[in-house]
Formats: sequence, structure tokens, C-alpha cells
Amino acid sequence: MILRAFFRFTIMYPTQYFRSIDSTNSRAKEIADAGAIHGAAVVAAYQTKGRGRLGKDWHSVQGKGLYCSIIVRPNVSLEEYPKITLVAGLSVALVLDKFILGRKSQLKWPNDIYYNGKKIAGILTESSAMAASREDRYAVIGIGVNVNQAAKDFPLELQETVTSMSIESGSEFKVDVLFQAIRLELLDQLQIFGDAGFQPLLNRWRKKDFLLGREMACVTTEGKKIRGIALGPDDEGQLHVRDIYGRIHQVLSGDVRLATS
Ligand code: BTN
Repeated sequence: MILRAFFRFTIMYPTQYFRSIDSTNSRAKEIADAGAIHGAAVVAAYQTKGRGRLGKDWHSVQGKGLYCSIIVRPNVSLEEYPKITLVAGLSVALVLDKFILGRKSQLKWPNDIYYNGKKIAGILTESSAMAASREDRYAVIGIGVNVNQAAKDFPLELQETVTSMSIESGSEFKVDVLFQAIRLELLDQLQIFGDAGFQPLLNRWRKKDFLLGREMACVTTEGKKIRGIALGPDDEGQLHVRDIYGRIHQVLSGDVRLATS
């Protein structure tokens, strides 16, 4: 523990900063393929082709959001890699709770961070080729956080469903201070993942579950569209829902949304 605290303040993790880039995830994958170390990162003030999950775009507002990608090489097996997104979401949420005092952030399975019922941050995890040997294996954790945006900075169609740290607190935040805090928290949580397994992290994740008990629409692992009540992630991090007939389904890691009538 003391050793970890010591390294936390002495290791300088390499960071590449860009005024503008297509996508920090694309750049991070390039440097990870070239051997970048665990904790190395790419940060940009603006992205011209920021990517979200499921092929969606991630909208950037010059200098007002955090757009970063952190390369991680955690000490976990290949089968555990899909859980990294949940660990990353938890890490971001814990940091936001320290920065924005008051209401607590929540996690919407698998990759969204919510605040006050609106999306405030998202995670896009991209991994090295599955065939990569353990030494070559990595995940790039792309993190987008709405930091100093005002409501009018977002596209009209998003203004009802997204928020920013500034909107919620009335304060301005230093984007780089936030980035450094998120990287340290993420590396700490991944250390716990490697040392103690997923369970302690999952227990904390479950306390922040935004969907739990809510009616949602989703696609099951068998490819069926269903509506049901979210039961939260199981011990493997897979979301389960109960349909109106009481049947339990495992949800595909696809688009999960609250059901509207
Ligand atoms: C989502 O909510 O769908 C995930 C959004 C992830 C956006 C971040 S911004 C930094 C990094 N680079 C990208 O191109 N995407 C991620």
C-alpha cells in the first residue's frame, strides 16, 4: 500500500498532448502497438473524428471537454478484458464525485457515466488483437468527459440528455487536473482488479447502477429485442433483464436504453 502510494507520486507517465487530432483512441492504439507503457496517454483539446461506441460520433467542443485515451496493460487474463470498461467507468465516476460535490454520479451499463439523470461522460475501450501475447496485449481506454461546456455548446438534439460538470456545479474546472486524477484512479482500480479480482470493484459499481430496477429496451445475446426490468450486472459484469413473463435474459453489449412508453 505504502509502495503503491510512493510510486503514484514518483512515476511520470508519458503523455502526448494535441491541440487537435482525429481521435485520441486512434493515436493511442498506434503508440501502444509501438510499445507504449501501461499508463501512457494521449490527450487532445479537440477531436475531428471522436468516436463513441456502436459507431457513433463523439462531439468535441474545443478546449471545454476532456478527450483522452489511456493505454493499460493490466495483470488480468484475456477473458477478463471485457470487464475493463466497467472498471474504467467506476474510476471516472469516483473522480467526478470528488470534483463535483453534492449529488453522486451513476453508471449506466456498460460505458456511460450519468449525473443528475443525464450523460456526463462516456468510455470507449478498444483492445489489441485477441491473438496478441500477454506482453503485447493492451487496452486503450478512451474517455470523454463534459467538463466546462454550457448547454448551448451541445448539438440541439443532445441538450436534453447530456450535461457537464460546469452545468451541474456552476464552477469551471481545469481539464488537465481532471485528466491526471482520472488516470491515477484508473491505474489504482486496475491494480485492485489484478490483485484482488473483479468482485470488490463490482460491489462498488453496483452501488452506482443507474438502470437497476428501471424498465429498459435492449437486445439479448440471442439477438432478440426485448423490454424488461434491469437486474444489474452479474458476477461476470454481464447485464441481466427480466421480461414481462418473468424470464431472465442476458443483454448483448449493445445499445441499452430506458424504455419510453
Ligand atoms: C460513448 O459514450 O459512446 C464513448 C465515448 C468515448 C469518447 C472518447 S473522447 C476520447 C476518446 N477518443 C475517441 O475517439 N473516443 C474516446
